[in-house]
Amino acid sequence: MTQETYVFLNDAWVAPEQARVPVEDRGFQFGDGIYEVVRIYRGRPFAMWPHLERLERSARELELPLPRPLPELARLIEEAPARRGLQEATVYLQLTRGYAPRIHYFPDHVTPTLVVYAQPIRLQPEEVYERGAAAIVVPDERWLRCDIKSVNLLPNALAKERARRAGVLEAILHREGVGITEGSSTNVFAVCRGKLVTAPAGRYILRGVTRDIVLELARAAGIAVEERFLSREELLAADEVFITSTTLEVMPIARIDGQPVGEGRPGPVARRLRDAFRARVAEETR
Ligand code: PDD
Repeated sequence: MTQETYVFLNDAWVAPEQARVPVEDRGFQFGDGIYEVVRIYRGRPFAMWPHLERLERSARELELPLPRPLPELARLIEEAPARRGLQEATVYLQLTRGYAPRIHYFPDHVTPTLVVYAQPIRLQPEEVYERGAAAIVVPDERWLRCDIKSVNLLPNALAKERARRAGVLEAILHREGVGITEGSSTNVFAVCRGKLVTAPAGRYILRGVTRDIVLELARAAGIAVEERFLSREELLAADEVFITSTTLEVMPIARIDGQPVGEGRPGPVARRLRDAFRARVAEETR
């Protein structure tokens, strides 16, 4: 049954109008917080534990105490879509250091703020997957701890806004002296000379849960995998490019900066991995 109280705030499910956070919350003033987005298929979470493990890691890296043990957070994620009567959804979980009088260093006595709620999913039309999406390459202007899923998303938001103004789906980030890192909210893969190439896990990218599953599926299918940074030129000359994320799954990229990728339509590797990914989802959320 759908309920009005579908936002979990700290210790209770409340109505969205009641879900308010003090102005001195450190998430609001310092971006001192982390988050996860978990996909719900047919009412059931997909790959929830890898997301929770990444949350635990982000929290550890920022010395942010988890307000509840992971199994309790798992139950909240499972309950969130049902509270809103959603079958196809994403669950957003955010944790900040909490609120205290504004001071840069970590306050001594502060209780973390926890928010969990489900949102209806906004899917790309199937024809975009069939035709392949477009992207642009923009400079990666983020900090050097992109491995932490923090709520500091301003550079990502600026990049995505540039993509939107260019009429394309994603902004692919290029870091000076490093190479292609990832997308503004996705990981980037390319097929170059028969090998599947993606940036290595480390401080320059968010290690996507979808990325890791796609790499596992590729290896299982006997596709050669290389984790290294591509140059901008290599990306533009690749036979195939695709991006991955919790919400997009595996999305082929057919044009970058107005130029066709390969033959300008989704290639066989992207198709194969997309099918394999969907099969994995069906298996896990049966
Ligand atoms: N974005 N890289 C960045 C910078 C991201 O923000 C995301 C996810 C990914 C893909 O990670 P995953 O496969 O675990 O979703 C890569 C989420 C969906 C968001 O911010 O909405």
